[in-house]
Amino acid sequence: MHAVLIDDHFAAWRAASLEALNRGLAPETIEWRVKTAPESLPESPQTLALFECHEPREVAPSPTRGVQVSKELAALLQDAALFRDPQRWAFLYKVLWRWQHGDRTVASPADADGARLHRMAKSVRRAKHDMIAYVRFRRQTAAAPTPEYIAWYEPAHDVLRWAAEHFSQRMGRSTWMIATPHGAAFWDGDQLHLEQRRALPDEHRGNPEDDAEALWLAYYRSTFNPARLNQAALEQHMPVRFWKGLPEAHLIPTLISAAKSGAQRVAQAGSVGALDGKSIPVEAEFAQPAREPPSSLDRCRRCELWRHATQAVGGSGPGDARIMLIGEQPGDQEDLAGQPFVGPAGQLLDSAIARAGLLRAQLYLTNAVKHFKWEPRGKRRLHKTPGQQEIAACGYWLERELLAVRPAVIVALGATALNALLQRKVSLKDYTGAPFEAAGGWAIATWHPSFALRQQSDASRDKVLDEIGNALMRARRLADELLAPNTQTQRDHPQG
Ligand code: URA
Repeated sequence: MHAVLIDDHFAAWRAASLEALNRGLAPETIEWRVKTAPESLPESPQTLALFECHEPREVAPSPTRGVQVSKELAALLQDAALFRDPQRWAFLYKVLWRWQHGDRTVASPADADGARLHRMAKSVRRAKHDMIAYVRFRRQTAAAPTPEYIAWYEPAHDVLRWAAEHFSQRMGRSTWMIATPHGAAFWDGDQLHLEQRRALPDEHRGNPEDDAEALWLAYYRSTFNPARLNQAALEQHMPVRFWKGLPEAHLIPTLISAAKSGAQRVAQAGSVGALDGKSIPVEAEFAQPAREPPSSLDRCRRCELWRHATQAVGGSGPGDARIMLIGEQPGDQEDLAGQPFVGPAGQLLDSAIARAGLLRAQLYLTNAVKHFKWEPRGKRRLHKTPGQQEIAACGYWLERELLAVRPAVIVALGATALNALLQRKVSLKDYTGAPFEAAGGWAIATWHPSFALRQQSDASRDKVLDEIGNALMRARRLADELLAPNTQTQRDHPQG
């Protein structure tokens, strides 16, 4: 009998299985063991530590290098590997062994093992779906909490990592934690950290204090802010002689030493850099060169919206477009795709563009604000109107786009776009009648397509779309007029 000792995840099992298959070890000759606390698993002479993997991210599509499995079986194995059952690794190895020995029926639901494999995978897929659907984040109430959102969830299988990766792509740079009885996931705005509770030996199973403690440690580690470390105050508030009674005590020296060896400086850099400071006149020859503006939209920190967005969404379209359309800000889908107007408002805009006899490919589409501003509502991210300060901060980018594209006509879609264009707060209805001068050229204002989305009846939705279509048609004619040769006088006095 061989004992195979692995970390409790698919990548470790896959590597160990490859090794075992290469050695020709039949399933019934292997006892699969999962690593727990070191003292609970003394290495016996026949223990065969085939593989130690600490990197569960690295999951290749096929389970081993030496074994070719079908795509379908690979997917089944990966899902079934998340099924909570202490026998899962032995069972999956049996499946792989049979497959490698030419027994393809093992992947069929008509086979007893195949049926079990399909059941396991199906149950895991359900658990994945449920976790995405039912996790509820709550915003913490303190002024600057870390993480900003927390959720408690009890998944039926080991789908925490999978779900956490899903949320890390959806929640932008907001910090959050999902705690489960088996571990926790933290998103620090940039990276995902997983704290898996190791499977406990039987005598320790079912002790709720262990669960709470694992979570507390994970939470403590994630909220320890090296930028704010004040060791003297820490030791004063929590005298060292009491540390031995605290579950988190063993973490503290490591966290302090990491803070001292650089983490503190790195963590403080953002807030120190953001300080206004005091201006001190200096001789020009001693002055530092003026600080470069952000070199790319992606690195823009001119307001706080970047924190919660997946990415900045710049404009798109020909660099010499005659007409530029300005929307408000990217929505949920634009935030994920990195492109303006690809969601439901974009579809309505497309139909208005078509009504005007234009093609999207001829237009330059952009937004007044380049990061998605939203608030959580259940598992959805609800659009939130950007504030005047955010519009003003993002004006920097709009101005650069206007200078680069130099459109003959600008169409402001909605009040936010209009405010951004005119750089002051105005009322949309005062501008919808006729073309007006803006940004050194001519502009037209109309409804934002999402206003059509909000209409209750088809008739009123159609009416709004018609009005947007008409405005675009006017923009087209005006651009034709302005750009026709010998029309300098018209340029000065367009007909609208
Ligand atoms: N609404 C906007 O204003 N812009 C987009 O890109 C999408 C929706």
